[in-house]
Amino acid sequence: MSAEIIDGKQIATEIRSKLAEEIISLSSHGVPGLAVVLIGNNPASEVYVRMKKKACSDIGVNSYEYSFGEDYGEENLLKLIDELNNDSKINGILVQLPLPRGYDEKKVIEAISPLKDVDGFHPENLGRIVIGDRDCFQPCTPYGCQIMIKRTVKNLKGKHVVIVGRSNIVGKPLANMLVQKNDMANCIVTVCHSASEDISKFTLQADILVAAAGSPGLIKADMVKPGAVVIDVGTNRVDDPENPGKCKLVGDVDFEAVKEVAAAISPVPGGVGPMTITMLLENTVKAFRLHNDI
Ligand SMILES: NC(=O)c1ccc[n+]([C@@H]2O[C@H](COP(=O)([O-])OP(=O)(O)OC[C@H]3O[C@@H](n4cnc5c(N)ncnc54)[C@H](OP(=O)(O)O)[C@@H]3O)[C@@H](O)[C@H]2O)c1
Repeated sequence: MSAEIIDGKQIATEIRSKLAEEIISLSSHGVPGLAVVLIGNNPASEVYVRMKKKACSDIGVNSYEYSFGEDYGEENLLKLIDELNNDSKINGILVQLPLPRGYDEKKVIEAISPLKDVDGFHPENLGRIVIGDRDCFQPCTPYGCQIMIKRTVKNLKGKHVVIVGRSNIVGKPLANMLVQKNDMANCIVTVCHSASEDISKFTLQADILVAAAGSPGLIKADMVKPGAVVIDVGTNRVDDPENPGKCKLVGDVDFEAVKEVAAAISPVPGGVGPMTITMLLENTVKAFRLHNDI
């Protein structure tokens, strides 16, 4: 039997419409504001910034774009972040990554106030994730994955989650979120990476398998336990054989084959992607509440 499709787009739409209502109900306090900073002209970053700005305007968040050429310089960027940290109309600050060569991403991320770090990349927010303090900004992609998982598997207690990928923005925070003792988690977590010789040894044990490696088609049907829940974070641009000269977006999972083995699976596109932007919006509204003591 073919797997249930975990429709990230649908879940995202539901959450966004609730956020839009929440923003209306808070309007006597003002409007949440998100600063989006883009340095350079990376085409993928430009697309992401456009999508984030549209998502903001759709639900009533004010977005403020700060776009500069590559030559803007780290010193100016740090000065801008300092101004945004002290600007009361700005509740969240997002610096679109990757930054061009010559910018120290670590320094830039750490310059953002942890109270405005709606991407959840600041070490203070990540440290809170590690100790299970949810009173922080959770990084958007793992937070979106966690919600998709919780909606699919009601009781997560004791479920074995295997995550393929250990990046600071996906694998590591997600592992830390799912191992906590709360009803959004309480899982047993295994993390695989490029030093894992035979990942199928681990993936075959997964009740919940999360692929976040950035390797198209890495997860094949014979690597998935029958009845598992599969979340595909991978976003890879590959040549589209049906449209010569064009590209298409695929995940890390061989979707067509794995959907015949898994109980539930998220597609690419239409899975984790829309959830990531939604959690950015949720974090921005959370920051607005925090800054206005609501
Ligand atoms: N949908 C979304 O909103 C969203 C958000 C973020 C990322 N993504 C996508 O998710 C994917 C991962 O992103 P990322 O930023 O986490 O990537 P990353 O920083 O490149 O990390 C990839 C991780 O996967 C591991 N890995 C790579 N190939 C592997 C293999 N064959 N076997 C086992 N482990 C392997 C790497 O191991 P090492 O640590 O040993 O190198 C690394 O830990 C990308 O396709 C990215 O575009 C999507």
